[in-house]
Amino acid sequence: MQLAHQRRIFQHGVGFQGSHEARAGQALGHGFCGLETKFLAPVPARLLASASSRSARCEPMPSNSSASASAVAASYDEVPYPSSSFPQTHPSRLAAMARLLGVPAPAPSTARVLELGCSDGGNLIPMAARSPGATFLGIDASNAQIAAGRSVVSALELSNIELRQQDILDFAPAEGRFDYIIAHGVYSWVPAPVREKILAIAAANLAPNGIAYVSYNAMPGSGIRLMLRDLAFFHARKITDPNGKARRARELLTTLAGPMAEDNLPHIVLFRQEFGYVERSPELYFRHDLMEEENHAFYFHEFVAAATRHQLQYVSEPSLWEILPTHLGAKARAALGKCEHWLDLEQQMDFLRFRSFRQTLLCHAAIPVRRQITAKAIKEFAFEAHFRGPAEGVDLTPGVPVKFTVDEASHFSTPQPFIKAAMQALSETPGQSIGYAALVEEASRRLPQSARAPGDKGRDEIALMNDLMQAVAAGMIEIHFAPLGPAPMVSDKPRASPLTRYQATNSDRVTNWVHAAIAMDPVPRHVIAACDGNRTIDDIFEVLLTAIADGRLSIADGAQSITDRKQLTDVLRPQISRIIADCTRLGLMG
Ligand SMILES: C[S@@+](CC[C@H](N)C(=O)[O-])C[C@H]1O[C@@H](n2cnc3c(N)ncnc32)[C@H](O)[C@@H]1O
Repeated sequence: MQLAHQRRIFQHGVGFQGSHEARAGQALGHGFCGLETKFLAPVPARLLASASSRSARCEPMPSNSSASASAVAASYDEVPYPSSSFPQTHPSRLAAMARLLGVPAPAPSTARVLELGCSDGGNLIPMAARSPGATFLGIDASNAQIAAGRSVVSALELSNIELRQQDILDFAPAEGRFDYIIAHGVYSWVPAPVREKILAIAAANLAPNGIAYVSYNAMPGSGIRLMLRDLAFFHARKITDPNGKARRARELLTTLAGPMAEDNLPHIVLFRQEFGYVERSPELYFRHDLMEEENHAFYFHEFVAAATRHQLQYVSEPSLWEILPTHLGAKARAALGKCEHWLDLEQQMDFLRFRSFRQTLLCHAAIPVRRQITAKAIKEFAFEAHFRGPAEGVDLTPGVPVKFTVDEASHFSTPQPFIKAAMQALSETPGQSIGYAALVEEASRRLPQSARAPGDKGRDEIALMNDLMQAVAAGMIEIHFAPLGPAPMVSDKPRASPLTRYQATNSDRVTNWVHAAIAMDPVPRHVIAACDGNRTIDDIFEVLLTAIADGRLSIADGAQSITDRKQLTDVLRPQISRIIADCTRLGLMG
């Protein structure tokens, strides 16, 4: 398999998505993630603690905890920060990465899950709706956000989730053990005592083989944004009202963005990228992500040292590609090869990638983490594709290379029929994850019997394991603990879940089976909201006509609204089946 790719480092908040690109279009050689991918040896905990030299910026600050929590609550009560589903936090993903590295993380389907700083439960509620055998607790300081989340929980009649207004500082060890503890977009935005408490909770309340996920702004990439923030705070220093302060700061940044657009000095180029995110970010991200009083960034080694003080250890980031140097050039890889242990390797990669956000998985310090993986370990998992096949279809003829594409700069190609058939099957269902055995079965089914000689089966499977692992290492496939998705169904009355229909009715984002938030336009939203399993396509069309007549939905031909039934029958009716097929592919049905 030949790969070429480009990856993004995530940042927190929709407004700041997508940041520093790795080298575009770089071909990856075989072998790095072959049958014997080697990581570096783990380093003793003691060494990690002393490896950290905390800068003054990161020293614990004296803080009146209850006063600071009520200020936070007031800020988020006034301008709520609606949360969303973050696929990288899903226990299915966390369990898979942990197990790939030898940590026997608990089964997500029956897990106990805690989220700290859960906002309105936008991340936890879809998990709870799709995992009835698991239980979920989310806490947040903001009453308004918790109240908003509770109303969704009661509308969906979910009995396996509790959303609770509570200060993280007040969370007690007596709450018991959780298999997964999630803190997304919180650690960098709280004062030192709360940060310490997040790690203390992870230590005290994590089940023996449990996994904690903590995301934070990382250095060095966050340094540019922190400079912008310093500038914004200085400029708005005389304004005490947080909204006024944010408005003033945005004015300044918008004013400076103009002249910067024309200059190509190295520092301007760096600033310009940040200005772009800031300018595009909606008000609430600007206010909370950039202009909250608390906003701290950490070097990876500082975070690992803080975790080590709580007898926790680093496992990984949520995706394999993030912890491998495969996206870097050959010279950088050779230099990184000299690192003595993974802490140095990952810290140096953060510099080379100018990384600005990390989403770190932790487990108890006593658990052995295996930093060597073999391709055959891949058989344990289920796979979610991030690529599509060619528009003209997949030619399964032996020797004819077929290209599967992630985006302009990231793709892979293979001439092997069995691999092509497997990748084709994965590419058709990007909103689900397919287990290894089912994938092998499906690929075999797609190949004509005559195309496989006796003895091909074993060779095909070895090649598939190798190529799946390479694609995972390149970020083109994500691994899951188990398959996620509905059983195949053929019905003239399509059905979306109550969660999906609720989200489609009340927001422009719908969570799919692999926990990604899919943005939706009004027509697909109305279609999917009507898919209750009792309506035919004709019935759904009638529902859309009623929405158009009521003024809740509008269909236009250029500037002209269409309301005539005959015209809508020609224009809108044929779209419904296509929309349902798209929604099925994207993991929104069932
Ligand atoms: C930036 S928002 C992130 C929300 C959500 N996790 C997400 O990523 O969409 C930070 C959240 O942490 C909560 N928070 C901050 N300090 C807290 C504390 N001491 N106790 C409980 N919640 C806190 C805020 O109310 C807010 O909802």
